[in-house]
Amino acid sequence: MEIKLEDLKVLFSEEQIQTRIKELAGEMNEFYKGEEVYAICVLKGAVMFAVDLVKHLDMPLKMEFIRLSSYAGGTKTTGKVNAVDISLPDLNGKNVLVIEDIVDTGLTAKFLIDFIQCNFKTKSTKFCSLLDKKITRKVDVEPDYYGFDIDDKFVVGYGLDYEGYYRNLKYIGYAE
Ligand code: IMP
Ligand code: MG
Repeated sequence: MEIKLEDLKVLFSEEQIQTRIKELAGEMNEFYKGEEVYAICVLKGAVMFAVDLVKHLDMPLKMEFIRLSSYAGGTKTTGKVNAVDISLPDLNGKNVLVIEDIVDTGLTAKFLIDFIQCNFKTKSTKFCSLLDKKITRKVDVEPDYYGFDIDDKFVVGYGLDYEGYYRNLKYIGYAE
């Protein structure tokens, strides 16, 4: 399958995304109440979301970046999570907020939550994903925060890619 820019339909517009991000940030500001947070952005997909989200967070915050991949390319997940770069600072006693682009099978989310729990005794660990594809879940994991629920569509844009392309779009689109 090849996805062409001219075939993309808008699923969530730039305005819808930005409005929802402000709502999520509001909930987080309420939950953390000024406590320090370590925001962990999962590269590459969550980069746009993480950058826009943290601008609306008002607590003391540090950003960390890790790189994982589960897609071999194209639109099918490999079912295996590769930790490309998962070096993290000492998160013992910290509030950790993992920021992902999408939870699909849930394997990446589960891998990360287990990794953090195995290596650190955090004060809190929350998982936030812009998109939640509940229908394709293979493991029992739910994001603590999510932007939008989507059905089983392959989406691109706003960080999400097809073979590396379309991350730069301001909106989230899909090809039928
Ligand atoms: P999971 O491990 O199956 O939950 O998949 C998580 C990763 O697969 C995400 O972080 C994305 O990078 C990628 N992914 C899943 N669905 C899509 C999609 O519809 N478009 C682009 N990437 C996707
Ligand atoms: Mg990802």
